[in-house]
Amino acid sequence: MTDTITIRRPDDWHVHLRDGAMLQAVAGYTARQFGRAIIMPNLTPPVTTVAAAQAYRDRIMAALPAGADFTPLMVCYLTDGIDPAEIERGFTSGVFTACKLYPAHATTNSAHGVTDIMKLTGVLDTMQRIGMPLLIHGEVTDGDVDIFDREAVFIERTLAPLVRDYPALKIVLEHITTAEAVDFVEGSGPNIAATITPQHMIINRNAILVGGIRPHNYCLPIAKREKHRLAVRKAGVSGSPKFFLGTDSAPHEIGRKENACGCAGIFNAPYAIETYAQVFDEEGALDRFEGFASLNGPAFYGLPVNEGTITLTRSDNPVPATLGEGETCVVPYFAGETLRWTLAD
Ligand code: DOR
Ligand code: ZN
Repeated sequence: MTDTITIRRPDDWHVHLRDGAMLQAVAGYTARQFGRAIIMPNLTPPVTTVAAAQAYRDRIMAALPAGADFTPLMVCYLTDGIDPAEIERGFTSGVFTACKLYPAHATTNSAHGVTDIMKLTGVLDTMQRIGMPLLIHGEVTDGDVDIFDREAVFIERTLAPLVRDYPALKIVLEHITTAEAVDFVEGSGPNIAATITPQHMIINRNAILVGGIRPHNYCLPIAKREKHRLAVRKAGVSGSPKFFLGTDSAPHEIGRKENACGCAGIFNAPYAIETYAQVFDEEGALDRFEGFASLNGPAFYGLPVNEGTITLTRSDNPVPATLGEGETCVVPYFAGETLRWTLAD
């Protein structure tokens, strides 16, 4: 049995670091494990300009613990009226790594998102031409579509036509949760990839609803039935270069989760790499862990892999019930349980 695994330093291709006190509280968790991370732009107000992204990047750097070796990769939040020239300027100057498409009202802080993808024609032409990746929250928001069907319907109604109309556009379907998403990505060309969260490899919807409502397992896209979890998990450990690590760690203060209208988001950043390692170990796929965590993402984005390595050991790793105090008190994923892998310092 393998008891120690050393891999190239991984990256997190989808994380919410927030701002202000929460940013100060959580940035160190991500920087401890990952060399780089794609930073979600759904702040209030959202990050829609080069200047806003530069300022946010500076705040992230200032929030890191001393000596941290971490590069935030900034993302432009797409709105109906966004200027393609601003996006191109941000990309060619190295400030923006990608753009994020939130369908309006799909999730937390998406009110300024896109109401109709037809409004993005100029933006998508530009992104395809310059090779800038489009990161997609793939859910429709129509009131008549069941929340458990929203990803599959998005793929059929929006993503398939998008891929047809922009055949060279680089697209990451973020935090996939369904067999339909796995099938779509596997059946598409090399310019279509997906990120996978730890929770969507581990929980199905029973973990939210059986035995009482468990708000800390609620995120969007919501976890689906078991057959979908199995499909996503299989894709993640398959070794396919189309699938890579994106935690979607999304901290909310405990009172905003344990609430009559609780926020969507699972805070998995503190033990993310250990959680993924446990999944790959359970699947007998530790030999494919490095590809998923450290190699496939850079290859897709056209970036070098990180220098340096991390080492994980097989040893019990108890997860605390809460982390932080007051307005930054958050419940981590796996709270009160014990993970089987530990990241060496
Ligand atoms: O669960 C989620 N939380 N999904 C998202 O898409 C957004 C995120 C957040 O920002 O809290
Ligand atoms: Zn997210």
